[in-house]
Amino acid sequence: MNLNALAEQFGTPLYVYDQSALDHALDRYTQAFPEATLICYAVKANSNLSILRHFAQRGCGFDIVSGGELARVLAAGGDPAKTVFSGVGKSSDEIRFALSHQIKCFNVESLPELDRINTIAAETGCRAPVSLRINPDVDAQTHPYISTGLKENKFGIPMAQAEAAYQYADTLPHLNIIGIDCHIGSQLIDLSPLVEACERLLPLVERLQAQGITLQHIDLGGGIGIVYHNENTPDIAAYAAEVRRLLAPYSLQLILEPGRSLVGNAGVLLTRVEYVKQGDGKDFVITDAAMNDLLRPALYGAYHQIDNISAPEREARVADIVGPICETGDFLAQNRLIGAQAGDLLAVRSAGAYAASMASNYNSRPRAAEVLVDDTGAAKLIRRRETLAEMLANEHNLL
Ligand code: LLP
Repeated sequence: MNLNALAEQFGTPLYVYDQSALDHALDRYTQAFPEATLICYAVKANSNLSILRHFAQRGCGFDIVSGGELARVLAAGGDPAKTVFSGVGKSSDEIRFALSHQIKCFNVESLPELDRINTIAAETGCRAPVSLRINPDVDAQTHPYISTGLKENKFGIPMAQAEAAYQYADTLPHLNIIGIDCHIGSQLIDLSPLVEACERLLPLVERLQAQGITLQHIDLGGGIGIVYHNENTPDIAAYAAEVRRLLAPYSLQLILEPGRSLVGNAGVLLTRVEYVKQGDGKDFVITDAAMNDLLRPALYGAYHQIDNISAPEREARVADIVGPICETGDFLAQNRLIGAQAGDLLAVRSAGAYAASMASNYNSRPRAAEVLVDDTGAAKLIRRRETLAEMLANEHNLL
């Protein structure tokens, strides 16, 4: 793939995704896990319609967290019957929207949410399929902002309340209890917390069964980490083997909600160097991409590998690679060994997940374009660069 040519053709900043890498990442899941496993791609990782359509055509379902994400799944031709709806704060409108499209399941995160879904299902004369998201109180050993399975996190129903929550759900006439789920965090580089979470849920499945509450599926969430730097990431086959062993005594369909591991390493963010500034003690490589295009370094101190792809031979120096935004936190990398001059093209690696989908217009910067290189090598513009007029379009100048 000629990234320099793509930057010339489409301009920068530019997200470029590689379709064969998407396929390869999905193949790793489908080969490791039993055929009956439903892979619900986590839309939040990269919600571009073409990416969603690609996964839909490959048979995936979707994990959504808003009505907006459901609209995207529908627009991309995704199957609502393979779509699960996660999130702690589903609004009444979102629940109504999802019910009207007969999604597979609501992953319910609180008792008041159970009540709300029951009431809305009653109004619409249906029974809503629900699974309870249990917070297993397991430390995912990841960045605190993306750790979700500890009892101090806002997510899920505490383990200690889980059985009573199922019993309560069972009394609500417009709910159909079909599953159990958890999601303990993202960018997991150790398998043991994932396995432990599953181990904690299964005794509950048994206790519920004894009370006549029979579940059809278990959803273990997303969370396999990817390589950004030098992480030792988990082996999907080893994860699958553990899960297969744990689930063998049960007749439960397995659902997974991977996001990052399907798209993260399939994308790069291309950015042009505007200036190189010699500071007092260190250099600053100032690029045309900024924290509004890739928030992860600013928000989590995340590491992304950055390569000079137009002039790789330049002598490297230690520099901060920063964007034009007026925030000290606006950096793509700090204290990085890089050789760069104005006009050079840099590739920020592993930018397929949580990059474009977390982008904003901060500093009134239009959203960057996205390109998908298909398996024939053809580059398709899957989101055109936002124009200034589009960026202003929803606002009124009333004064
Ligand atoms: N399922 C649920 C309910 C989730 O909340 C998430 C991610 C996933 C699945 C997908 O997890 P994955 O397979 O991608 O690890 N913005 C952060 C990541 C936030 C993840 C939020 N939830 C980042 O850039 O690292």
